Amino acid sequence: MHARSPSPTLIAAAAVALVALAVGCGREDPRFAQLTGLAREGYLVYKRECKVCHSMNASADGPLGPPIAGSSIELLEARVLRLQYPPGYTPKRDTRAMFPALPHLAPKIPALHAFLDPALHPKPE
Ligand code: HEC
Repeated sequence: MHARSPSPTLIAAAAVALVALAVGCGREDPRFAQLTGLAREGYLVYKRECKVCHSMNASADGPLGPPIAGSSIELLEARVLRLQYPPGYTPKRDTRAMFPALPHLAPKIPALHAFLDPALHPKPE
C-alpha cells in the first residue's frame, strides 16, 4: 500500500513557508525565538533599532556596523544614547555612520546588554 501523496495545496504551503524562512529570517538563529526575560526584551529592541545596520549575529559584521557582541553597559550607554564612546575606549571604526542617538532607549540598555551576551552570538566561521 502506498502512503497518500501530499496535496498540491500542502506542497504550495510548504514552499511558501520555506521561501519566507529563507528570505525573512535567513540568518537568524532559531535560539533567539527561545529567549526569555531581559534577553528577549533586548532581542526585540535590537531587531527594531539596530538590525538595520548591525548583524543579527552580533559577532559578525552587519550591513553597515561592526560586530558588537559583548559590548559593555558603559559602551552601549555612550554609543546608543549619545553617539559617543566611554573615555579611553578605542572604537572599532573611526567612521561616524551610526545615527541618530536614541536617548529614549536608556531603560533598554540592560536588555540590549543581556541580548548581546557573546554566548548568544557565536563567531562566524
Ligand atoms: C544607521 C546605522 C546604525 C544603527 C541604526 C545602529 N548602529 Fe551601532 N554602529 C553603526 C556604525 C556604522 C558603527 C561604527 C562607528 C560609526 O561609524 O558610527 C556603529 C558602532 C556601534 C558600537 C561601537 C562598536 C565599537 O566597539 O566600536 C556599538 C556598541 C553600537 N554601534 C551599538 C548599537 C546598538 C545597540 C544599536 C541599536 C540600539 C545600534 N548600534 C544602531 C551603525 C548603526
